[in-house]
Amino acid sequence: MNNPVAAHFTLDPAFAVSKVDPRLFGSFVEHLGRCVYTGIYEPGHPTADDAGLRTDVLDLVRELGVSVVRYPGGNFVSGYQWEDGVGPKDARPRRLDLAWRSTESNAFGLGEFMDFARKVDAEPMMALNLGTRGVAEALALQEYANHPGGTERSELRAAHGDAEPYGIRLWCLGNELDGPWQTGHKTAAEYGRLAAETARAMRQIDPGVELVACGSSNQGMATFASWEATVLTHAYELVDHISLHAYYQETDGDRDSFLASAVDTESFIENVVATCDHVGARLKSDRRVNLSFDEWNVWYQSGDCPQLDPDAPPAEDWAEAPRLLEDNYSVTDAVVFGSLLIALLRHADRVKIACLAQLVNVIAPIATEPGGAAWRQTTFFPFAQASRYGRGTVLDVRPEGPTHATRRFGEVPLLHATAVRDEETGEVTVFAVNRHQTAPLPLEVTLRGLDLTRVVEHSVLADADPDARNTRAEQTRVAPHEGEGTTLAGERLAATLEPLSWNVIRLAP
Ligand code: AHR
Repeated sequence: MNNPVAAHFTLDPAFAVSKVDPRLFGSFVEHLGRCVYTGIYEPGHPTADDAGLRTDVLDLVRELGVSVVRYPGGNFVSGYQWEDGVGPKDARPRRLDLAWRSTESNAFGLGEFMDFARKVDAEPMMALNLGTRGVAEALALQEYANHPGGTERSELRAAHGDAEPYGIRLWCLGNELDGPWQTGHKTAAEYGRLAAETARAMRQIDPGVELVACGSSNQGMATFASWEATVLTHAYELVDHISLHAYYQETDGDRDSFLASAVDTESFIENVVATCDHVGARLKSDRRVNLSFDEWNVWYQSGDCPQLDPDAPPAEDWAEAPRLLEDNYSVTDAVVFGSLLIALLRHADRVKIACLAQLVNVIAPIATEPGGAAWRQTTFFPFAQASRYGRGTVLDVRPEGPTHATRRFGEVPLLHATAVRDEETGEVTVFAVNRHQTAPLPLEVTLRGLDLTRVVEHSVLADADPDARNTRAEQTRVAPHEGEGTTLAGERLAATLEPLSWNVIRLAP
């Protein structure tokens, strides 16, 4: 079947959404399953460097183009004591991790993470424990990490081998404290007060810190929007961003709705923007609170998640770095994932930070085997391409064209797209998803005032088998291929988007 009608939009540099903050291409490392241990850190692995970091993984993280890494959780952080992860390794305590019903060795901690962040050239985004801890412990960590010297904690950092302060600027004020599953779960008013007091105190040490307050764990939470409004009523003048988290999966075989997941992402963003601005207006504030979408991905939330498992083992049996949340992503998952990236870019005026959750092994674009190989999952490709070609200014894209009916979202456009212009080179990249499972979608774009003369490439991620994936046995089964028949004539770009596909069309002057 062919879609007889083309999807169409016009690009014009006069109609820009916003410059893209490079921190839109962030990721997330949590002490969860094998993200840290045998993921990024594995002393004794044939590729490990002196610090125990896997250089095969470091290479893939650099190729992925991650700009920010959030650490150390996630749910984990709400029971974490950062002091456990610094100083001589043989003196570090083993602890129970309530969040993931695991045992934490603490062999990897703050210093090791900062070394990792430096090696992949990413900005650290440090999450604070506001679940079981509070203002005092946040200040202690800030002083240990950032104070140049001459105080007990800064001298301790130097004694631990890092004389230079870490200079961590970006901090998350807790994690998902709206969620009943969170250790130290709070009401919005309790959390709002704590976030405000922590922020106020941290700014006394350094007014330049950039702070993220916890928003809702997803748009479906019963407290959604009222949580944000209450938290911001307490903390509006003291924070820079509010967080959003969202995960998607195919349910009941309803692939059309799954492919339209970004409809939820975009409405979530727009609803949080409206809530922030409502509070700002009520407070008669000139301040603008932006959005940090610091957990997003496809995630099949199944029985391997200990928090959801009523038959999880007793604490004596909690394993070290067990295999948890090791989703193996298909081509379909990667197309949805690409669509989530498009949603973030389309809202680059307010989404200033975003973190793909997570980076290695745990719902991740990179998979590893202990002692063995590291490889790219299908989701690796859209992220790497968006990070590489999605830097510049997002142009306003308002597509017209065919739609189809979905069970969850009603009538939905088949095309989901955005475009980014690199002002230095004049190149424009169109990112586009065809949501139709079986029909190709003709695409026409009118390019006004952009002086583009050639198609550099049309990269496509699609497959005759939409369930194809890269596995340990077949690590390179799926990769992007070159699209056919894409033309640029005068101001008219014409392409055909394969069924169920992620597309990157690069145009140059
Ligand atoms: O990314 C996995 C988990 O999802 C995180 O720990 C938590 O913040 C979220 O619920």
